[in-house]
Amino acid sequence: MPDSNTTSDIAIDALNADQARTELARLSVDMARANAAYHRDDQPDISDAEYDALKARNLAIEARFPNLKRADSPSEQVGAAPADGFSKVAHVVRMLSLSNAFDDVDIQEFDDRIRRYLGLSNDAPLAYTSEPKIDGLSLSLRYEAGQLVQAATRGDGAVGENVTANARTISDIPQILIGAPDVLEVRGEVYMSHVDFEALNARQAERSDKQFANPRNAAAGSLRQLDASVTKSRPLRFFAYAWGDVSAPLGDTQVQAIERLEELGFQTNTLTALCDGPQALLDHYAKIEQARATLGYDIDGVVYKVNDLALQQRLGFRSTTPRWAIAHKFPAELAWTRLEGIDIQVGRTGALSPVARLLPVTVGGVVVSNATLHNEDYIKGRDNTGGEIRGGKDIRVGDWVQVYRAGDVIPKVADVDLTKRPDDAEPYAFPQTCPECHSAAIREDGDAVRRCSGGLICPAQAMEKLKHFVSRAAFDIEGLGAKQVEQFYRDGWVHEPADIFTLRARYGTGLQQLKNREGWGDKSADNLFQAIDDKRAIELKRFLFSLGIRHVGEVAAGDLARHYGDWPALIATLDAAGPTAMSHLQADAAEVAERQAAAKEGRKPKIKATRDAIWAQVNPTAKTAWDDLTGIDGIGDTVAVSLVTSLQQEAERASISRLVAELDIQPDDTPANTDSPVAGKTVVFTGTLEKMTRAEAKARAEALGAKVSGSVSAKTDLLVAGPGAGSKARKAADLGVKTLDEDGWLALIGAS
Ligand code: IVH
Repeated sequence: MPDSNTTSDIAIDALNADQARTELARLSVDMARANAAYHRDDQPDISDAEYDALKARNLAIEARFPNLKRADSPSEQVGAAPADGFSKVAHVVRMLSLSNAFDDVDIQEFDDRIRRYLGLSNDAPLAYTSEPKIDGLSLSLRYEAGQLVQAATRGDGAVGENVTANARTISDIPQILIGAPDVLEVRGEVYMSHVDFEALNARQAERSDKQFANPRNAAAGSLRQLDASVTKSRPLRFFAYAWGDVSAPLGDTQVQAIERLEELGFQTNTLTALCDGPQALLDHYAKIEQARATLGYDIDGVVYKVNDLALQQRLGFRSTTPRWAIAHKFPAELAWTRLEGIDIQVGRTGALSPVARLLPVTVGGVVVSNATLHNEDYIKGRDNTGGEIRGGKDIRVGDWVQVYRAGDVIPKVADVDLTKRPDDAEPYAFPQTCPECHSAAIREDGDAVRRCSGGLICPAQAMEKLKHFVSRAAFDIEGLGAKQVEQFYRDGWVHEPADIFTLRARYGTGLQQLKNREGWGDKSADNLFQAIDDKRAIELKRFLFSLGIRHVGEVAAGDLARHYGDWPALIATLDAAGPTAMSHLQADAAEVAERQAAAKEGRKPKIKATRDAIWAQVNPTAKTAWDDLTGIDGIGDTVAVSLVTSLQQEAERASISRLVAELDIQPDDTPANTDSPVAGKTVVFTGTLEKMTRAEAKARAEALGAKVSGSVSAKTDLLVAGPGAGSKARKAADLGVKTLDEDGWLALIGAS
């Protein structure tokens, strides 16, 4: 056996297998030591050239003796040793995102919406804060008794990653707070300055290491390092701008709360201002936009927040964004490039979406090679009412097009330069058949989108449905993301959601088949089966959303789950309502035919009579079920027709039944507040409310666990009737439904 001290002198060609093994072991130790010195201690102990030489020798030996490559080979590591990933942290108060505004009108509407919601007149004072929107990643810091005990990334808003050790290395983040509430979660943005970003990339280049595309990626990559010593070596900063769980209020206003955070030792943004209305917000926006280039860090817009925290509390949240704040984004960055081709993607609901294939171009620091072209009308230069867009200019393959990115959204094609159009460019012929399954692609009246009619036989639809099924807001199965499910589909292991739950039975024997697959080891295969089993018990609203039915998003799924409580009750109503949904479709078709006939005959169309004739044939049970369904606030005819007809389709229904058989669908237990006097009760609001708006009343009732319905039926428990209540109050009286006025309601919920 050669001595390990001497193998380093042997030329690679001259190494025998034993020597190579010894040399690979030596190199792995030496490189780990060099990595630690560089990343953890910020004290490189060898030169970059020496490091590169070790790296090259390691790679060359691995190339000559591939079967001797070590499991912990330095060639597989970036910076430091791999760990098992971050543990998960459930946020006590969800970390939300912001809705976006792009122009002055959006800001006026933001103010209008808030006034309407709060029932404030146009001249009542309503102040906002305005502050830069930092382009980094959000972080929640939990302090208990003044000590930093946990730092977590946003993750999906409900559960983030535990990055406490990493956060402790950031000098802007205090480890100890003096005079803070006993529990305090401070939220803000981790970011990297321009100067630090350039220096980091230069350092990376010297070591032939990965380059970061922009400061935000660099900040994210640096914070999410499994080895905290790497994070320490990266110059991260932190601005505090919000809070989560707190045991005592930080102030009465946003401004006071931010001042308090500053007193506690956090960096807050000096460009924060108090504004008395939309015009002042826009003025401040202009000021920040001007300062943007000289700030030294990236911002992508300005955030406006209602200043009064009591009002913030009343305004509350939509499903993922607060009503009391908005992000006013900077205009998108633009670039011109050549359109090389148009690809058609087929989505979950069969929509054929045209995607521009572009000559790669840098837009706002990111290389863009694809952009959306929306739909066939957009390519033709028409909007969905047939009006002109881009002055009616169509887009052709070979054209020079203008591309833009707004925030994180997918790049879009905005304009076309006709002076550069090649002579042989042809108008784009939108496909009339699905490129994936060749079924007819049909565009229905009133739909901007052409859709594949292949349903589940279309591989693209089936695959997109599966990806939706495993997405975060749906089944969210650990270890089974879009990539894995796509692979399973391609290999024929999983055709529909139910197949995921029979994977273990079909392929799990001894786990051999899954284990033998690339990328799946013993542990990961076992973990996957366990993760799948963990999701058999699923909340009704998640289950409903996961089905991927058109128009049934998270909010509608939540509304339906709250109203019906469990799957048997819901499916019974949907089945009963079947004939009504079909009659809606028939009535739509008859209406189109009647309009055409009337136009031809030069008479007025008889729309109501046409619809009524069809409606009259629907049986009363179907009508009652339909009324109950569409009586739910937020569920209109469009959602109801889509939901009911999807479940009537034989193949779709059979697929759902197979899935249901694998699951334990949990009844909805939304009332976080089961001890409230209205939990589980169905409430209808009618007439004018004087102390709050209808939207606020609804949001409050739901927060207390009530179901809010739009119409009175035998299922209604309570009618809240303000002045001017009409037919609903009469119907409630007929049915013997308890009725309260607004004050009675406020007293009942303890808000008077
Ligand atoms: S407030 C409940 N203020 O923007 C809302 N967010 O697009 C709490 N962000 O997730 C967010 N600068 O990561 C707020 N001054 C600022 C911000 C800011 C950047 C980020 C934050 C948020 C995202 C939403």
